[in-house]
Amino acid sequence: MPSTDQHGRPLKSLRISVTDRCNLRCRYCMPEAHYTWLPRAEILDLEEIAQLARVFAGLGVDKLRLTGGEPLLRRGIPDLVRMLKEIPGIREVALTTNGILLAEAAPALRKAGLDRITVSLDTLDPQRFLALTQQDRLGSTLEGIRAAVDAGFPPPKLDTVLIRGTNEDEIEGLLQFAFDRGLELRFIEYMDVGGATQWDGSKVVPQREILQRVAERFGAVQALPKTDSAPADRFALPGGKVFGIIASTTQPFCGGCDRSRLTADGKWFLCLYAPEGLDLREPLRAGRTPEELRALISEGWSLRSDRGAEERKRARDRGPLAGPDTLRKNPHLEMHTRGG
Ligand code: GTP
Ligand code: 5AD
Ligand code: SF4
Repeated sequence: MPSTDQHGRPLKSLRISVTDRCNLRCRYCMPEAHYTWLPRAEILDLEEIAQLARVFAGLGVDKLRLTGGEPLLRRGIPDLVRMLKEIPGIREVALTTNGILLAEAAPALRKAGLDRITVSLDTLDPQRFLALTQQDRLGSTLEGIRAAVDAGFPPPKLDTVLIRGTNEDEIEGLLQFAFDRGLELRFIEYMDVGGATQWDGSKVVPQREILQRVAERFGAVQALPKTDSAPADRFALPGGKVFGIIASTTQPFCGGCDRSRLTADGKWFLCLYAPEGLDLREPLRAGRTPEELRALISEGWSLRSDRGAEERKRARDRGPLAGPDTLRKNPHLEMHTRGG
């Protein structure tokens, strides 16, 4: 029986963070000098991840997305993809990556059966990439995007977090880059998630401003009907070009949210903003049967009432979700731990 939560939302999509480590230090995600990493012994091995994914699939999850940190830092991802693709009921396995290691990994991922790839790309300027990520690696990300196409994947989606004063002058350039290559780019409003310690409302470029800028350059923008619970609003331009906006800060989409998140150490979070998650590692390692795990997950989801982004929108004096000290004490609050 598929599970629904307190607002009637089904459990459909599971984002699996396979590592909390990252090879970039994006300013909107990991701007601090020091981080507390999850203890190695607590990281689920690939078979444990697959075991949990089987239980989730039995409860109605049909879409899996591997995230991080940077998922390609973890060895054996093609093996994991293969295991996940064999699970009855799983329609799609996707991956969100910063692209740095993608050029080398793409062929093996494709062979393993990975369905789709999303690459984060915030700038086309090498100096700015360095300033934004602390690494001079724009070339590697661009190569990764090309390699994904060459490996036979459907055109990768591009995700761009817009920050006022940092990259909002690249709206047009990034879109043109995507259009020239037949790729769908989504602008993401800067979110006040855990880890975004430099967040400030004035740095958010709202959806309506993005639309205005795009219309000025590319012509009339037409909203496309929403097809599912996906976070992105999609738009068409003259000539049939399509792009998206993920307006989670100014227009939260909690009402239809069917996503939950599993961290690399087996904690299950029901919302991007949830203060706590349900530990699945301990029961798994204690030898609970799939039926027992299923009951635990099903009950957890049935009690879910989270609408984190909507609540944050209503908050007065909105600032970062947590400061650096709190995050060091509780790394599970970090976006790079619970998966972007
Ligand atoms: P597809 O539409 O299938 O491509 O997947 P997706 O859009 O869920 O995947 P992706 O990893 O590209 O997500 C894009 C971004 O949307 C994430 O990095 C987050 O910034 C944001 N996002 C994803 N899920 C949520 C969510 O549950 N709540 C909020 N507020 N933002 C989310
Ligand atoms: N605001 C919006 N998106 C964020 N991500 C991480 N931190 C933030 C933030 N503060 C998302 C981006 C990035 C992905 C890995 O995580 O989509 O591309
Ligand atoms: Fe950047 Fe993603 Fe790494 Fe965060 S996890 S630092 S957003 S590449």
